[in-house]
Amino acid sequence: MRILGIESSCDETAAAVVDELGHVYSDVVRSQVAAHAPYAGVVPEIACRDHLRAVGPVVERALADAGLGLADVDGIAVTRRPGLVGAVLVGVQFAKGLAWALDKPLVGVDHLLGHLLAVFLRYPDEGVPRAAPAFPFVGLLVSGGHTALYRCDGPAPPDVHELGGTRDDAAGEAYDKLAKLLGLGYPGGPVVDRLAHAGDAARAPVSLPAPMAHGLEFSFSGLKSAVARHVARAGKPADEAAAADLCAAVQGALVATLVKKTLAAAAREGVPRVVLAGGVAANRGLRACMREACEARGLELHVPPVRSCTDNAAMIAYAGALRLARGERDGYDIGPERRTELERLTKKGRGPRAQSPTTIIR
Ligand code: KG4
Ligand code: ZN
Repeated sequence: MRILGIESSCDETAAAVVDELGHVYSDVVRSQVAAHAPYAGVVPEIACRDHLRAVGPVVERALADAGLGLADVDGIAVTRRPGLVGAVLVGVQFAKGLAWALDKPLVGVDHLLGHLLAVFLRYPDEGVPRAAPAFPFVGLLVSGGHTALYRCDGPAPPDVHELGGTRDDAAGEAYDKLAKLLGLGYPGGPVVDRLAHAGDAARAPVSLPAPMAHGLEFSFSGLKSAVARHVARAGKPADEAAAADLCAAVQGALVATLVKKTLAAAAREGVPRVVLAGGVAANRGLRACMREACEARGLELHVPPVRSCTDNAAMIAYAGALRLARGERDGYDIGPERRTELERLTKKGRGPRAQSPTTIIR
């Protein structure tokens, strides 16, 4: 089964052809980063218009790279949630048009599930094949829009259980906002990662505690405030060396909390394997620190290649191929949804959705 996947939920227009075993035949990602960089964040109106221009050529390229014509694909998978509604709409409407014109099955895919399943993708140029994780695993999903720990008992949405998410910013959002505070450009994650590598946290002019929140939940706003207070007091780093030391401190604090909570989740669930997912899983510091920590605890760690951590359509095509293989189909009435269909426990800003120890009587 060769499935064409289409992704347009944020600032990448992507298309890919993948089969139900995760073999990637083509994987095309067109980034809009340059269009959003002047605003240091994604501008929804710009994103939608850019997706409209790009989606046709990106799909054509994915088919050409796979050596296929439209008639050769067995189904069409498209990100239908969560994301910027106008951006998701472009991909969904394009996919519906194709499916209708070609009389091929259509499936909508949850972008977050796509991220969690990206570790199963197999690229022909990878060299030594990676072993796929068995279920259950604990998945740490860290992207620009979402951050949560999940227990994954299988590859379908009802198999995925949130163990704890962020109460405020997503990890990638924290990276982007911290980079903006330090005047390092957009997107912040890769820049902070690169500078942190060259810096030394011990030389940083502030000590930043690892941000912590209730149980397996995350909170990054305190770290952002600590850096903002430092910049207000001492100004932005004077040169690249000073920026590198501050980035090392920031990255150390972020990575420490991500690793600590992931290990706690694996211990609590009694699950011996961990999977990294999402754009921040591309982070060298996180990958190295998580590897070391998992080795020390005897946990199996599965890390996708960098290209399948950040947004792509191969993960969407794969998640869609699994849906089609289960006999699932969507009608032409599907539309974009702002929220994920995965279970959500953590209430943004106000603590856990369930099991809150606090009662407020007004
Ligand atoms: O998964 P993704 O491509 O898009 C979303 O679904 O949000 O994640 C994008 C996020 C951005 O916030 C970006 O700064 C972050 O991933 N990111 C990184 C790195 N590469 C991308 N963060 C830390 N280190 C990196 N190397
Ligand atoms: Zn994503």
